[in-house]
Amino acid sequence: MFEEAQYFAPVATKDDGSVVVELATSHPGFADAVYRQRRNAIAALALGHTPGDPIPTAEYTDEEHHVWALVTKELAVKHRKYAVREFLDASGRLGLPRDRIPQLQEVGDLLEPLTGFRYLPAAGLVPLREFYGVLADGLFHSTQYIRHHSVPLYTPEPDVVHEVIGHANTLASPRFAALYRAAGRAARQVETDVALEFVSKVFWFTLEFGVMREDGEPRAYGAGILSSYGEIEEFRGMDIRPLDLAAMGTTHYDITKYQEVLFEAASFDHLEDTVGAFWDTCDDDTVARLLAASPA
Ligand SMILES: [Fe+2]
Repeated sequence: MFEEAQYFAPVATKDDGSVVVELATSHPGFADAVYRQRRNAIAALALGHTPGDPIPTAEYTDEEHHVWALVTKELAVKHRKYAVREFLDASGRLGLPRDRIPQLQEVGDLLEPLTGFRYLPAAGLVPLREFYGVLADGLFHSTQYIRHHSVPLYTPEPDVVHEVIGHANTLASPRFAALYRAAGRAARQVETDVALEFVSKVFWFTLEFGVMREDGEPRAYGAGILSSYGEIEEFRGMDIRPLDLAAMGTTHYDITKYQEVLFEAASFDHLEDTVGAFWDTCDDDTVARLLAASPA
């Protein structure tokens, strides 16, 4: 999932217990009463879920399954061109369905034998400490809804395409899964909100929007790039800088636009030795030192 509050449609529980997802007027599904009703029902499923219980089944329409099939097909072509090998190999092992939206329960059933990760349903924004913290336990909070069928290649918010095609394919790699777990441990090691934000920004510029040098060119491993039909064609033209913890932890980003500044690992080892090692060992003091050394 994405980590900024304003990116998620707010979810409200009314006095009568009903759950309402408050879509912005600019949302492609705003005027579609049937879609909105389903969004409300899917959010209610997540709110009513108890960790450890099977994840409730979300009802999707045929149109929504078609959206999944279309996006899967289009992104697969782009992944072969732009994704790192580790992602492509992991995606091949995971074997997500191509013709229909998988339920999150099924995603966890496919993932767990590979790397131990399971999915948890999220109605919308999950507090940072909780979202990151449970990564250490091999749990990934995920939205269940899918974008509106009128614009299958666009979403203003992180939907199940982002969560599953972007993140689950990555989480199927033992090396990437280890980095997600390290990020989770880091979130539990730090105590101040400042340090937690720093840890989350490093996550943003790596596991959400990271690129890596491979065969002499930048390739994507960040779930945000790998799940975006438009952005995956644009990232090579962005301002790509070398991996730099202090810079990643302090660079401002705008979640509503394509990311203009990206950070590139020279190799997978470089990513692990720099970012993985930071998450493994960081505490409030480590972050304070990096902030002090940052020019920002
Ligand atoms: Fe995400």
